[in-house]
Amino acid sequence: MTQIIPNLSIIVAADSKNGIGIKNTLPWHLSDDLKRFRAITTGHTIIMGRNTWFSLPKRPLPDRRSVVLTPDPLGEEGATETSTLSEVLEICKNDSENFIIGGESMYSQFLQYASKIYLTRVVGNFDTDTFFPELSSDDWSLDEESEVMTDSKSGIQYRYLTLSRKG
Ligand SMILES: NC(=O)c1ccc[n+]([C@@H]2O[C@H](COP(=O)([O-])OP(=O)(O)OC[C@H]3O[C@@H](n4cnc5c(N)ncnc54)[C@H](OP(=O)(O)O)[C@@H]3O)[C@@H](O)[C@H]2O)c1
Repeated sequence: MTQIIPNLSIIVAADSKNGIGIKNTLPWHLSDDLKRFRAITTGHTIIMGRNTWFSLPKRPLPDRRSVVLTPDPLGEEGATETSTLSEVLEICKNDSENFIIGGESMYSQFLQYASKIYLTRVVGNFDTDTFFPELSSDDWSLDEESEVMTDSKSGIQYRYLTLSRKG
């Protein structure tokens, strides 16, 4: 049985069909969601795949420890590089909360270990080529759900959900 890691969380924004990205970028721009991401992750360890690292316009993200899973050297400063899942799990021992921040390959590998999910549910079906895994209600319970909000620039609607692992 997979070991659940109490201080490993996932943070993700996904549309109604679990789409998360397109051509190595985000399908939407939600200013409040980016602020929320910063507020939740600041001071902690953020763990991402190679593609997500290179998708960041300014990297590393300030005031956070970046860990990148990559088969090849990044050739850039600012991140702890690793090529094994077990090393990532070892690194998690050093922080009170660690966040898997994407992308698809990372969510699919680490969902089984995570204890908490900060999910921004973006209303609608966007053009996407990467996806978040389906969540089973056998495994996850809903702790909090915000009202639906509307981004003032794009009109895109979204809400914040917090889920925790059952049992
Ligand atoms: N909506 C959101 O919240 C959100 C958040 C973050 C990212 N995104 C989006 O997600 C998309 C990127 O997702 P993605 O799946 O293409 O990329 P990704 O997960 O960011 O990175 C994949 C890369 O990481 C490497 N990697 C992953 N696991 C590894 C392991 N166990 N060992 C060694 N290397 C490993 C892969 O190497 P290999 O070559 O070995 O496969 C591959 O090069 C982008 O569109 C991005 O904008 C969305």
